[in-house]
Amino acid sequence: MNKQAPILTSPLHTSIKHDSAAKQVAGRADYIDDLVEPEGTLHAYLGLSTKPHADIVSMDLDAVRRAPGVVAVLTAADVPAENDISSVHKHDEPVFVTDRVVTWGQPLFAVIGRTREEARRAAKLIKIEYAELPFFTDVDAAIAAGGKLVTEPLTLERGDVVAGFATSQRRVKGRVRIGGQEHFYLESQAALAIPGEDDEVTIHCSTQHPTEIQVMVAQVLGIHHAAVTVNMRRMGGGFGGKETQGNLFAAVAAIAAKKLNCAVKIRPDRDDDFQITGKRHDFVVDYDVGFNDDGKIQAVTATYAARSGYSADLSGPVTDRALFHADNAYWYPAVRVNSLPLMTNTVSNTAFRGFGGPQGIIGAERWIEDIAYALGKDPLEIRKINFYGIDTDNVTPYHQVVEDNVIHRVIAELEESSDYQKRRAAILEFNRTSTVLKKGIAMVPVKFGISFTATWHNQAGALVHVYRDGSIHLSHGGTEMGQGLHIKIAQVVADAFGVPVEHVQIMATNTGKVPNTSATAASSGTDLNGMAALDGANQIKARMSAHAAVIYEVTPEEVHWEIGGVRAGKQFVPFAELATSCWMNRVQLSAAGFYKTPEIHWDRATGRGHPFYYFAYGAAVSEVTIDTLTGEYLVDRCDVLEDVGRSLNPAIDIGQVEGGFIQGMGWLTTEELVWDGKGQLRTHAPSTYKIPLASDVPPIFNVRLAEWSVNKKPAIGRSKAVGEPPLVLAYSVVEALSMAVASVADYKIAPQLDMPVTPERVLMGCERLKKEMRG
Ligand code: MTE
Ligand code: HPA
Ligand code: CA
Repeated sequence: MNKQAPILTSPLHTSIKHDSAAKQVAGRADYIDDLVEPEGTLHAYLGLSTKPHADIVSMDLDAVRRAPGVVAVLTAADVPAENDISSVHKHDEPVFVTDRVVTWGQPLFAVIGRTREEARRAAKLIKIEYAELPFFTDVDAAIAAGGKLVTEPLTLERGDVVAGFATSQRRVKGRVRIGGQEHFYLESQAALAIPGEDDEVTIHCSTQHPTEIQVMVAQVLGIHHAAVTVNMRRMGGGFGGKETQGNLFAAVAAIAAKKLNCAVKIRPDRDDDFQITGKRHDFVVDYDVGFNDDGKIQAVTATYAARSGYSADLSGPVTDRALFHADNAYWYPAVRVNSLPLMTNTVSNTAFRGFGGPQGIIGAERWIEDIAYALGKDPLEIRKINFYGIDTDNVTPYHQVVEDNVIHRVIAELEESSDYQKRRAAILEFNRTSTVLKKGIAMVPVKFGISFTATWHNQAGALVHVYRDGSIHLSHGGTEMGQGLHIKIAQVVADAFGVPVEHVQIMATNTGKVPNTSATAASSGTDLNGMAALDGANQIKARMSAHAAVIYEVTPEEVHWEIGGVRAGKQFVPFAELATSCWMNRVQLSAAGFYKTPEIHWDRATGRGHPFYYFAYGAAVSEVTIDTLTGEYLVDRCDVLEDVGRSLNPAIDIGQVEGGFIQGMGWLTTEELVWDGKGQLRTHAPSTYKIPLASDVPPIFNVRLAEWSVNKKPAIGRSKAVGEPPLVLAYSVVEALSMAVASVADYKIAPQLDMPVTPERVLMGCERLKKEMRG
């Protein structure tokens, strides 16, 4: 902490560097595997199933036990209490399988070794006999096998769809397939468990949800939540993949640590992490849309079938959120959408940046595109006439009124700043004369609902201490995964006290300091924890103000907080001096802050409510060039305009928009998950699974924040959430590719490309359209 840092202005709404940036690039930032290990730390490695669905006939672990360096082998019999880590308490996720495996890569046992390498080698020595059972790994096969669901489906309905179709002049039906996505956080899952006295255990875990790790460890050990302390300084990326998927690793480390009374660490190899942990849900969306000759939508029905994997995990809320985004930014006079969270013999799919919202939005964008091709118009025209109105035509399929619609302004500004119309005309001209290379351009809007749809998750706590020297200790319930949550909240607290941000010490997230926290997810980390921290700061400020009034003999109204300290009447008292004076006079300088999002409610049974506190908006224009003979393509230029309200930290927010966009582009273009005929995921390393490289960032990438935007709701600093909404803007790349492909058939046929739109799909799309044109 730099005590001398000058204070001139508030640090809020300024581009302050990420607090860990320098440490991260220099390799000095600690992740779980970097922590100093307690003396005698042992290492766990998991033994995994190698069938997607089978009864275990026999399991012989003798060779594993006799292998060099092996201290213990743990199976389901060693779980002291409940052999279950289902985050939604459905009892469908055993720590260790007992008699039937339901996916490839399910944990059967753990080897505890003196070194990680010894444990890893020993885990391979199992002799196991299976009786194989029929299995299915994708949505189509799951439906063909009867369509078993992992959790209750949802229907959202508003208006009369039968009447809507009856009065529609035209109709499109279609199906779009959207692939899954591996999180590919740079730091894999990891946990270190350190046993304490009696029941106590401390877990250091790479997790977005320390409270859930605490609850799950308590559940498997059969002890009180209070006996478990979870600590998390930072993750090397989470992206939703550490919302529930850390449970297994923490549970295994904790069981071993308590049994052997030794610290135990676990960190799977990348290939194993890939094969064990859940991913983004693939979706198959079937739709039927009625519209008029002008392109105005009259009625929508759609089914969202998702590959949920072997257990429920978060598949219920993920598929719900897909339905909540089936409208994107469009008003449907009549709509009925329903979800199918299908059980499959694959890893249990889970949260991933956007949480089903992007898949819902892509459905809407796809039928907008179909309508445009059917009418021979630019999809942007169809978008514009279907946008939610400001005072009318503004009710969502879940009956919430859209009150903060800024999509018209976002679109108009980006259309102008990206020179969309001129570039589109030039591209149409280019395509007329270019035979092999073709270009495409597309503009896509986003409206994204902010809040957890499970209302009770929308709460947060914080613990703020002011020390005698005026330095501040800040703890809150949110976790840092690279998104800049900690620096933003430090800015909020520094602004509240009028001190430099360097005087705020950011502490690791710890369940002992702030209890009963929600996952850092749903883009709500800053909204929730920022308000809780501000509440804590305000409680302390109120006591400091009252004290200042007494000692400087002024009325409470004469005490004003300024940058650097308080003014009490004519006196200016520096913050640190006032802190010392408070301590000398026995004024409490510590507070627990709390926040719960107001106004929101949601009744899943009736499909009605006000689940979102507000909406975040954005738009992107992308331009691509394809080679129609090979399918290869380049993304030439992307322009993004994102509404983050009044940004707390523009540099961090622009980083989030850029990162989200590129991560979305990887998902929709190059990242492909392939399960083979035996039920094994074959793309489980960077050699077979292609995430974007720095060289894949478009050469022209203009990312701007809508600096005029102010959150209408009193969210922290009038900002808006930024973590997830920009991801789906990458759909503009898909639609631009689609336009380039469509050019080979003079834009008469909608290419309807499935995602990811790999070069192979571009090539096959061109070939198919050429063939259809020839008739
Ligand atoms: N940014 C980085 N660098 N690393 C991450 O893991 N996760 C994303 C997003 N941005 C992520 C990220 C996801 S999935 C969410 S929900 C939000 O950050 C969570 O953080 P916030 O709520 O504090 O914005
Ligand atoms: N994103 C959005 N909504 C959510 C999430 C998330 O990660 N987790 C629970 N609800
Ligand atoms: Ca699942």
